[in-house]
Amino acid sequence: MTVSDQQGTVVGGKSFAAVAINCAAKAGEWIKSKLGNYEKLDIKYSAHDLVTEVDKGSETLIKRLVLTHFPHHSFLGEEGVEPGPEASARALEEVSEAEYLWIVDPIDGTTNFVHGFPFFVVSIALAHKGEVILGVVYDPMRDELFIAEKGKGAYVHGKRMSVSQEDSLKTSLIATGFPADLDYALPLNMKGLQALAPQVRNIRSGGSAALHMAYVAAGRLSGFWEIGLNSWDLAAGALLIQESGGTVTDTLGQPYSLGVRNVAASNGKMHQSFLDALAAADAVK
Ligand code: IPD
Ligand code: CA
Ligand code: CA
Repeated sequence: MTVSDQQGTVVGGKSFAAVAINCAAKAGEWIKSKLGNYEKLDIKYSAHDLVTEVDKGSETLIKRLVLTHFPHHSFLGEEGVEPGPEASARALEEVSEAEYLWIVDPIDGTTNFVHGFPFFVVSIALAHKGEVILGVVYDPMRDELFIAEKGKGAYVHGKRMSVSQEDSLKTSLIATGFPADLDYALPLNMKGLQALAPQVRNIRSGGSAALHMAYVAAGRLSGFWEIGLNSWDLAAGALLIQESGGTVTDTLGQPYSLGVRNVAASNGKMHQSFLDALAAADAVK
């Protein structure tokens, strides 16, 4: 069978979306079965950056399945890249010419997984010539699968998602994370936290950037920001938000692209106030 256009592409009878859903569901079920039950815990970039054999196994499972269906596609998975921001940027650069690139975080929220805190996901995105065209975020603990296809909207439980309506910081519920990079990203993020906490309705930090992004898409959060993330944390969630009517930029207000590391994502209506507050706190870069 020949490859058709980028949206409804079918190879060997399976669409991109069907393969992504299958991968996320299989990996998610397996991860869930390993909760409280992993064998090997390693430290990556810092003592705050963890990895288990379940992260690696989930990535292997997804990579094999994707490449079985699409052997000519490129694959960028977190566990195939050396830890640290420079190696991440290099890895993304190496695949910048790829026509089709799958971008995978096999467990986003590993610290939660390790502690049994039930807030972690599998995040799978597909980019065509550098633009994300498909995003799937799967939360196995709640059996919630968030999916977006470029130009076709975003869905959870088969229901179309829309971002929330809050148009001011004071009515907004926002989220952030505490990055593993203690030298640059964490202090900058803390500045933003300090400045935003008194201005918004409240702040959450659940420990999974991808799930926070999915919650912005679903209208459960007004916004999310974090300094020092990677392409695999953001790619699927960014499309979910865009296809739900929200806005994704970097913290300086530049439009989202795969290279964005400092993200500001929101329902769009409070985006400028969000960016302004971060800028006023000198917390954007
Ligand atoms: C982490 C999570 C966390 C965020 C960190 C990420 P990981 O990803 O998304 O919420 O604060 O910056 O690195 O390591 O669990 O895949
Ligand atoms: Ca991650
Ligand atoms: Ca991960």
